[in-house]
Amino acid sequence: MNNELINIVSNTFSNAFGYQASHLLQAPGRVNLIGEHTDYNDGFVLPCAINFAAVVAASPRDDNLVRVISVDYNNAEDEFLIGANIEPSNQTWANYIRGVVKHLHLRGLEFSGADIVVSGNVPQGAGLSSSAALEVVIGMTFKSLYDLPLTSQEIALNAQQAENQFVGCNCGIMDQLISAQAEKDHALLIDCRSLHTTPVIIPNNWRILIVNSNKQRGLVDSEYNTRRLQCEQAAEFFGVKALRDVDIHEFNLRQAELNPVTAKRAKHIITENQRTLDAAEALKSSNMPVLQKLMAESHASMRDDFEITVTEIDVLVDIMKTEMGELGGVRMTGGGFGGCVVSILPANLVDRVVNAIDAQYTQQSQLTASVFICTAEQGAQVLSLSVR
Ligand code: GLA
Repeated sequence: MNNELINIVSNTFSNAFGYQASHLLQAPGRVNLIGEHTDYNDGFVLPCAINFAAVVAASPRDDNLVRVISVDYNNAEDEFLIGANIEPSNQTWANYIRGVVKHLHLRGLEFSGADIVVSGNVPQGAGLSSSAALEVVIGMTFKSLYDLPLTSQEIALNAQQAENQFVGCNCGIMDQLISAQAEKDHALLIDCRSLHTTPVIIPNNWRILIVNSNKQRGLVDSEYNTRRLQCEQAAEFFGVKALRDVDIHEFNLRQAELNPVTAKRAKHIITENQRTLDAAEALKSSNMPVLQKLMAESHASMRDDFEITVTEIDVLVDIMKTEMGELGGVRMTGGGFGGCVVSILPANLVDRVVNAIDAQYTQQSQLTASVFICTAEQGAQVLSLSVR
């Protein structure tokens, strides 16, 4: 439970609005264990939610006004009226909220305004889905304030629509769906075509280590959109709806007819889908040698075929891989071009790996890494008011 954040949002709420919030909610960020860029190819992903979240204090209003205060942006304020004509704001943070509310309204749901205070501790710009956490917690807020008939899947889909159509980032469904539906102590194998989820327990003597390379992510949106386009071109070449529908044998038979870059992109997606299914099985049976091999292959595929890693990330992965050998898995996680590395490893190996990072990463990259030992958490939830 993020007690500190809960106190901050509820105190800010009563100071700013002059009364106590009626609702407290939170939605987590996520880390993806394997299955990168497969979500928008109708494929498979294996993320879990983490113990970093966006937290909201809120109350309903009887008019159409939405007032929002963002603690993390110096208590900056935003105000807008509910309706189909909500326009983007020049405060970037506010657009995640405006977009979600606009798209809830476009679904024909009936609700009025709200007073909202939001804060969060998901590191921003690190590839840990701070924006999905914000979008999902806002969807949950309106659902709870007005008892809206929305499933957690619909909250995720609405959040994705807001991000695609209002914020303008063409992301897949993974981040929003795991933030909305995650299960404590489990990763979720998500079929991004059917949106069917299968919980896979994380053995309790294993840890999830997230290491932020602190390499500033650059060109993320343009490179992301280029990758999407290349995947769509490859799917069209194979005459299928999405690369999910191409298997490796068909790919091998016909890849020479594709231009070499598109072929590499397609190869990453096709092989990554299989690795993700295999990794879910390996996790389920606590088979670390297989899991670590799949994670190593996933990283190499992102580096060589999908070309979304950067030198600093490769350096970090190599340091950790050398230290762990067969005992733990490590790969870049998230959209790429900087951001974080994820490792799954036995609890008794954590200190050794952290020491190796401390001793070698700065020397090799001129950057300092930040290390988070994470737990797999539950998805978005309404918190009891008594936790205050
Ligand atoms: C970003 C997107 C996701 C997914 C990942 C890559 O996080 O928001 O939809 O495509 O990149 O796996």
